[in-house]
Amino acid sequence: MTAAYDAVVIGAGAAGMMAAGVAAQRGLRVALVDHATHLAEKIRISGGGRCNFTNIGTTPANFLSRNPDFCRSALRAYTPRDFIELIESHGVRWHEKHRGQLFCDDSSESIIEVLRRECDAGGVHWRMPCAVQAVTIEDGVYVLDTAQGRLRARQLVLATGGMAIPQMGATDFSLRVARGFGLRIVEPRPALVPLVFDAEQWRPFAALAGVALEVGMRAVPTGTDPAAGAPGPGAGRHHRRHAAPDFVEDLLFTHRGLSGPAVLQISSHWRPGEAIVVDLSPHEPMADYLLRQKAGGRQLLSTVLAQAWPRRLAESWLAQSGGLDALRVADASDRDLRALAGRIHDWRLWPTGTSGYKKAEAMSGGVDTDELDQRSMQARRRPGLYIVGEAVDVTGWLGGYNFQWAWASGMACGRALLPA
Ligand code: FDA
Repeated sequence: MTAAYDAVVIGAGAAGMMAAGVAAQRGLRVALVDHATHLAEKIRISGGGRCNFTNIGTTPANFLSRNPDFCRSALRAYTPRDFIELIESHGVRWHEKHRGQLFCDDSSESIIEVLRRECDAGGVHWRMPCAVQAVTIEDGVYVLDTAQGRLRARQLVLATGGMAIPQMGATDFSLRVARGFGLRIVEPRPALVPLVFDAEQWRPFAALAGVALEVGMRAVPTGTDPAAGAPGPGAGRHHRRHAAPDFVEDLLFTHRGLSGPAVLQISSHWRPGEAIVVDLSPHEPMADYLLRQKAGGRQLLSTVLAQAWPRRLAESWLAQSGGLDALRVADASDRDLRALAGRIHDWRLWPTGTSGYKKAEAMSGGVDTDELDQRSMQARRRPGLYIVGEAVDVTGWLGGYNFQWAWASGMACGRALLPA
């Protein structure tokens, strides 16, 4: 049996539901297909169950992409304020946690419910769970062979997101279909993901698992001078590598390496073989602090640092830094204390990899933005084919930016889809 639609959206997640609901409310006949049994699992688990649904300070600078300007138009046309207005019209209450990150007061279910109701208001045809076996094109019409029969539409929206958390059903479906239609793909990688180290190298720190503190963190792209952080000859050829920002966020030690918001942020900028630089005292100049402490008494350096850091970290870190844990601050020369302070502000580490898609919160890379029209998300060389959300090479920082991209790109597409 064949069913015909104005548009078929594959992926009933954040971007797909937004696109489907908007288009359907404009009068289009829309089908929304998803292979999952439960609706929008990533929204459900996001933000610890409260969904960090946007960031009030969203700007294009909060995204990585081969073309950093691509996201500009969609983000301007649908802002965090617009999304707040939408959820408030459904009675959802929210609060700001910190740094512009907005969360639901109750649970992320309420965001799913808003999107579900918006789709129902337009009469979207739900087809889930429903696997898509093949996508072909016949005389300019997209033909989908699915577990619920054949679907035909002049317009197809790929909204299956990224590959993070495959154990929850994430796939590279959109990338495969886009590639099949001749679109270029920017190599996908896990993003917002813990970093891991060689087991031997990490052994001295493995016992610190669970220790957390606020740090400054930056990635050192290949071809840049690590000490100065200045762009070198290799900079600028990839994802605006020279512009990797510094983040001041919490760092968490794990058995295999580092996690926590600071590391998740920097992981999107890091590439294998590169160093990361941790500033273990982002707010206080350590040289001043240590020299003040030297004047004040005969404490162990580890005791002095334990006033600023968790004690376990102070002891392990100093032990690794030339056995300084047993040294009294009064016995160290000013020069040595200044050198130590330099290392505290500039702790350089070489991760061997990431924890992979299983632990990632996002995927970077995806359908090359050069292939898409920035106002509609339509493929330039494939009329009627649209790609939205995380499947596009636009990756947000941690903090609600990825959902804002999903809403904005879904909205751009939903407004652009054409009625019959
Ligand atoms: P999304 O993943 O939402 O939806 C894709 C849909 O496609 C899914 O329903 C899936 O079942 C379906 N699908 C996949 N393959 C398919 C196939 N082959 N056939 C049919 N259907 C298929 N972001 C943020 O801004 N704030 C936050 O708090 C968080 N928190 C967070 C926590 C965790 C643990 C993760 C993993 C991710 C986040 N994120 C986040 C990121 C955010 O969830 C993500 O960027 C968006 O959900 C992306 O929206 P999309 O609509 O593109 O994909």
